[in-house]
Amino acid sequence: MTQLPGHPHIHRVDGELHVEQLPVAQLAREHGTPLFVYSKASMLAALAAYRRGLQGRRSRICYAMKANSSLGVLQVFAQADCGFDIVSGGELARVLAVGARPQDVIFSGVGKTRAEMAQALEAGIGCFNVESEAELEVLDEVAARAGRVAPVSIRVNPNVDPKTHPYISTGLKGNKFGIAHERTLAAYRRAAALPHLRVVGIDCHIGSQITDSGPYLDAMDRMLDLVAAIEAAGIRLQHIDFGGGLGIDYRGDQPPAADALWAELLRKLDARGFGDRELLLEPGRSLVGNAGVCVTEVLYLKPGEQKNFCIVDAAMNDLPRPAMYEAFHGIEPVAQRGGAATTYDVVGPVCESGDWLGRDRALPVQQGDLLAVLSTGAYCMSMASNYNTRPRAAEVLVDGDRAHLIRERERPEDLMRGERLL
Ligand code: LLP
Repeated sequence: MTQLPGHPHIHRVDGELHVEQLPVAQLAREHGTPLFVYSKASMLAALAAYRRGLQGRRSRICYAMKANSSLGVLQVFAQADCGFDIVSGGELARVLAVGARPQDVIFSGVGKTRAEMAQALEAGIGCFNVESEAELEVLDEVAARAGRVAPVSIRVNPNVDPKTHPYISTGLKGNKFGIAHERTLAAYRRAAALPHLRVVGIDCHIGSQITDSGPYLDAMDRMLDLVAAIEAAGIRLQHIDFGGGLGIDYRGDQPPAADALWAELLRKLDARGFGDRELLLEPGRSLVGNAGVCVTEVLYLKPGEQKNFCIVDAAMNDLPRPAMYEAFHGIEPVAQRGGAATTYDVVGPVCESGDWLGRDRALPVQQGDLLAVLSTGAYCMSMASNYNTRPRAAEVLVDGDRAHLIRERERPEDLMRGERLL
């Protein structure tokens, strides 16, 4: 058995790719391609690393469900006693559908609508992470109308460089997220004065796919300075939320392990005298990213003068990260075969030159072979679209030797639902 680097519980047995105990090729035969296959054990192992790091602390892990919001995946985390970080009324409906406890749900996002606020108040969520002064005023109004008091935390923009892709860095001055560090105290004073808000915490999230503990330590320092200032103004904070953002190994990346990162962060928290606070975390990618692969079939090989193309049945609508961020995902044959490798651009059927999944990959493949696109548990299905009227892929969650089909492949009629002829 050989382990796939970075992918616990995904390995090869006699050259055949397996997710836990099941051969990926068999799942593809049963359910067709493109097909997402996830390992439940891998999700739970990633969660366990956070729990080890936070052992003995009052803490709550709120899975940032935007990373993968399929109901079956949410169920895994709900059953493991996680809370959820949501960013829309749609995500709220999903967590309620899997029976999550509303008080363990926190609501982030810069553009919450009044209707979404009302829906979340009605459900009784645990905290609104408020991202602007204007939002504080609107939330107070909506809560007044609903006859409720909204629990709030203010998202601080600590102006720390997470050293990640510009589209996924969120804690810099030029980003739309959070309230500027300098304005935070005034915002807390306002929040404390509004009758239908109750201040419960403080929050930050500096970006995603962070592979170094430095930005976290800097953000923590800046946050703790603020906690001290806010409490000196007589406003008590029950929890401190450090957001998500921890990276995964896509291509030899070496992010700190969650437990090692938290050991380091907790040392700082203790040294600064805030070790007794309840901690909230919002990890997404690091819980699910390397728990999944996307299986795709090679439709055609097309040799060319400048480039050889390997055309597969998965495309940018299923796997948008390469097109959006020029992101790298490993691509491997499902069955290892001998023979010479040829260098291909692996591309999908969508009518866009941006529809590529991997560039210049040396692959020993033939038409009809299956390939696995790696590290596709996070921000793939949740970002998938129906461009080119392509039905979204099916998803299977493997638990030991059992496969659960957690999402059926869409059919064209699903895609036309709700449309009307003239
Ligand atoms: N909390 C907040 C407020 C967030 O905005 C995010 C992610 C998270 C938590 C979770 O971050 P994570 O632990 O997953 O890094 N589509 C991009 C990633 C966008 C991340 C957006 N916010 C990608 O595919 O790389």
